[in-house]
Amino acid sequence: MREYRVHELLAFDDILLVPQHSSITSRKNVDLSSDIGGILLNTPIIAAPMDTVCETAMAVKMSQLGGLGVLHRYMPIENQARMLQDVFMLGSTAFVSIGATGSFLDDAMVLVKAGATAILVDTANGHSDYAINAVKVLRKEFGRDIHIMSGNIATADGFARLAEAGTDSVRVGIGGGSVCTTRVVSGHGVPTLSSILDIRSIFPYGDGPAIVADGGIRNSGDAAKALAAGANAVMLGGALAGTDEAPGELINGNSKVFRGMASREAQKDGRGYVSGVEGIATTVPYKGPVEHIISDFRAGISSALSYTGVDNLRDFAYNSLYIKITNSGLAESKPHGKAK
Ligand code: XMP
Repeated sequence: MREYRVHELLAFDDILLVPQHSSITSRKNVDLSSDIGGILLNTPIIAAPMDTVCETAMAVKMSQLGGLGVLHRYMPIENQARMLQDVFMLGSTAFVSIGATGSFLDDAMVLVKAGATAILVDTANGHSDYAINAVKVLRKEFGRDIHIMSGNIATADGFARLAEAGTDSVRVGIGGGSVCTTRVVSGHGVPTLSSILDIRSIFPYGDGPAIVADGGIRNSGDAAKALAAGANAVMLGGALAGTDEAPGELINGNSKVFRGMASREAQKDGRGYVSGVEGIATTVPYKGPVEHIISDFRAGISSALSYTGVDNLRDFAYNSLYIKITNSGLAESKPHGKAK
């Protein structure tokens, strides 16, 4: 076994951003728009393709709020195509998702016929030949007419290979998801923040495909750190689960099911068989309208820009500074005024 690199690798909790001189007069004066490979988002937040996070209602709302949603793929392809058309009917747009093996090209054709212009090749391991090949096949078939997002990868090498295959954006993050057990099951993964820094050390912001930081973003502070590291957008699963727009019934009036797409339960319901469990199923507290969550994230990210003294995400990626903190620094960083 060889060491990948000598630098210490960092998770979101290992760092803080450093306040810098700021001439920003109000958080309202910052611009959170972001270009993710030709798609302009007014809010750099994307809902994850999970069956307890993003179907029609979530996709519609995310699009209205300036972000986007990715429809999950644990349903017959015709159903996903219909779901996309429902999203269009309601004046919004969404990413659709397909696999990277079997009927993926036919599936893409069905979705493109239904009007899809942005497709996610949704695989657990974007370092694999089959994921890279799927991107090449789709690019060849559809030219530049559709946006291709792919992933997930955790290294600059993985990013470079998907870039070369012709992807427009890449989901970055392996094993960091809130209901993911990949690191426990396979022993593989890289802290997502370090994956982004690693990629940006080779592909500067604005150079190559866009980075969508995916997995383990719990709050606006984590999102700010990912964007500061150079992500063009963040993808959220758990943070959006439990909202009105997330699929699934309310349980006892106060919670909703949230589950990894590689959990036993999601696999069984979604495709009728279980192979390789790398996720868990759980419940999360009911959170009300997703608009409140997105509004909190927007406020927090705007505040982050003003603390760094910049008014847009590009300058944030180039000018932000971070420090590594200790466990006592982390303890000090969380609310600690309450009596135990
Ligand atoms: P958060 O932390 O926002 O992460 O809930 C969402 C991302 O988690 C990934 N995901 C999984 N990863 N097993 C995994 O290893 C799973 O069952 C699973 N389900 C989702 C996915 O990248 C998603 O966007």
